[in-house]
Amino acid sequence: MLRVAVLASGNGSNLQALLDRMASGHVQARVTLVLSDRPDALALGRARKAKVPAVVALPPEPEEKGAAYNQRLLAILAQENPDLVVLAGYMRIVGKPVLERFAGRILNVHPSLLPAFKGLHAVQQALAAKATEAGCTTHLVTADLDGGAILLQAGLKVRAGETLESLQKRVLALEHLVLPRTVQLFAEGRVAPDGRIAAGPSWTGEAGLEFVSGAWYSEGF
Ligand code: GRF
Repeated sequence: MLRVAVLASGNGSNLQALLDRMASGHVQARVTLVLSDRPDALALGRARKAKVPAVVALPPEPEEKGAAYNQRLLAILAQENPDLVVLAGYMRIVGKPVLERFAGRILNVHPSLLPAFKGLHAVQQALAAKATEAGCTTHLVTADLDGGAILLQAGLKVRAGETLESLQKRVLALEHLVLPRTVQLFAEGRVAPDGRIAAGPSWTGEAGLEFVSGAWYSEGF
């Protein structure tokens, strides 16, 4: 079975969505490592509760530079040697040595319809730009921030009078479908190193899965 390492800095609701879909059998993979740069991240508690074999808090040392931190991160990932690395709300830049080692096997979930609204506060950016659609994207991680090959997307219409809070909530609900679906594509061996997805069974309309009503999903979903 595909072995997945998840890096998360915060709440970990995407990690939870992944763990839940694995438990229900919709994603045929298992999370073998959860690592956070923040020892107080709720994601670590979720991982322990789900009995993930390795749960690691890796806070940066005082004054530690990114390169040194990333070497420590690489050592842990290399030891665990997962098939796939998932960034789920991981708020640090992943260094080149890690990206090279896991090229084509490291993905991120981002709360915008990339290439629009890269970087921080993507939902806020979309609202400020008066975008009529919002959504989320999974993509391969490269040195180009939020610029690696797009894997899957799902979008929805921004409502009149929509607040930041409501839009963030609606986009997060989409992430909770798109991320597990993307991991399942890896489990099925359908993702090429350049991010292209081979045809295969889709999830849309599959029994037992609740999709967000009114949302659209990209091909391959
Ligand atoms: C998500 O919106 C994700 O797209 C972004 O950070 C947030 C993480 O949420 N990168 P959670 O920690 O998974 O709840």
